Amino acid sequence: MTDTALPAALATLLGPSGLITDPADIAPALADWRGLYQGTALAVLRPASTEEVAACVRICAAAGIAIVPQGGNTSMVGGATPEGQGRSVVLSLARMNRIRDLDPVDMTMTAEAGVVLKTAQDAAADSGCLFPLSLGAEGTATIGGVLSTNAGGNTTVRYGNARELMLGLEVVLPDGQVWNGLRRLRKDNTGYALRHLFVGAEGTLGIVTAATLRLFARPRANEVLFCSVRDEDAALAVFRRFREADETAIRAFEYMSGLGVDFAVKHIPGVTLPLAERADHYILVDLASTRADADLQGLAEQVLGAALEEGEVLDAVIGGSEAKRTAIWRIREEHPEAQRKEGASVKNDVSVPVSKVPELIRRASAACAALIPGTRPVPFGHMGDGNIHMNLEQPVGMAPEDFLARSHDIMDTVNEVVRDLDGSFSAEHGIGRLKTDMMEAWRGGAELDAMKRIKSALDPAGLMNPGKVLP
Ligand code: FAD
Ligand code: MLT
Ligand code: ZN
Repeated sequence: MTDTALPAALATLLGPSGLITDPADIAPALADWRGLYQGTALAVLRPASTEEVAACVRICAAAGIAIVPQGGNTSMVGGATPEGQGRSVVLSLARMNRIRDLDPVDMTMTAEAGVVLKTAQDAAADSGCLFPLSLGAEGTATIGGVLSTNAGGNTTVRYGNARELMLGLEVVLPDGQVWNGLRRLRKDNTGYALRHLFVGAEGTLGIVTAATLRLFARPRANEVLFCSVRDEDAALAVFRRFREADETAIRAFEYMSGLGVDFAVKHIPGVTLPLAERADHYILVDLASTRADADLQGLAEQVLGAALEEGEVLDAVIGGSEAKRTAIWRIREEHPEAQRKEGASVKNDVSVPVSKVPELIRRASAACAALIPGTRPVPFGHMGDGNIHMNLEQPVGMAPEDFLARSHDIMDTVNEVVRDLDGSFSAEHGIGRLKTDMMEAWRGGAELDAMKRIKSALDPAGLMNPGKVLP
């Protein structure tokens, strides 16, 4: 076998619909959504069952071929893009797209890894339940991907991250063994919680082929507010007011800067500012209740009344209809796409204790402006759980490549502030290829050492998504 040859056993196993080798056809799987990385691979494998995934892993292990698991390929950190070194294949879970079971009494759903998040949400809704994980990429991201990155998104403040929504997993281990841990128990203390090891592992410890997920009661009342606020402290004050008035009603609490909203209005057709005047700071509040008679409008008016009186809220609109609620959410959801259209941007997916979000935004914005004059801070995101996307847009007129050449300086500058505020350099997108070189500084010592020993115990040949997560 030459260095570029694929084991013939893969073609026999997968057939023409399960094995893609034409360079033009595999190209989309070799680049990431942000356009930061371009990899190479011998092929894209598309197994259709757990047994086929296991057989692929065994064949690749025997041939020393690395495997890059891929779901929707929406990673923000290059996690699903092959490295371009050595021999590797992309293993797409796209054909593993069955919902195996949905039980509205147990409130559980067992879905294969390639089920698209939106499809899982819709299946839960069709059964009168809710699968609450929600993010901008939900029309493309998959169950395997959201678990492997421990995705957060908009509803973490109420329902937790992907990890909290998972009860059991089925995983193909790097040696090709299948571990069926699809238990649907709320209590199950039986030694090490192995399932949690694979959540957030970004495909470096094995391939998730299915998961049993928690479902919730479906909200029967919903309201969405969009407000301009005085400053970052006022945004936090309004969050506290809602929490004090009715913590259980908050489904999402998002912060947006004036510039971020300007970009959404400028670049995304149909997105408009629903307030009379532009401001420098905005919030979106999503309220939901499982009680059909919950007075969410009354709750909103009560909190807004007090916040307007104190000068925290400058102006506000309450959705009032499904169409208007969707339009408000679009302003927020289109932030990543609008920033992409505006030019080059450097993302800093960071978290701090909620109380320190205003200080994070102010200090990191000032530090980056001092580092690169003219750089445009576009902080936004999940204020209610302390996760801000402290993104920086290139200065007007600067060549995108010159700005991107400073990416690591910018990330270091933001991270210095984050460290000072007891935060994390990686909140919800993961480490992927982008942040491996930060692991030593942030997680070095006993923690990184233990991670490396787990990796070499499960994947001694280092064939599972090499070059990701660990330095
Ligand atoms: P991929 O991108 O295909 O893979 C991600 C990682 O998981 C890779 O390391 C890959 O190797 C691994 N992987 C994938 N499937 C498996 C599997 N079955 N077994 C083992 N490993 C696997 N993320 C958030 O957390 N919150 C947000 O609000 C959010 N908003 C986004 C908005 C936009 C517009 C975009 C483009 C992305 C956003 N993301 C967000 C990032 C991204 O959507 C998430 O990281 C998502 O979880 C990735 O899912 P995926 O199926 O696309 O995974
Ligand atoms: C989001 O919440 O929209 C994404 O996670 C953030 C980003 O694009 O930086
Ligand atoms: Zn986010």
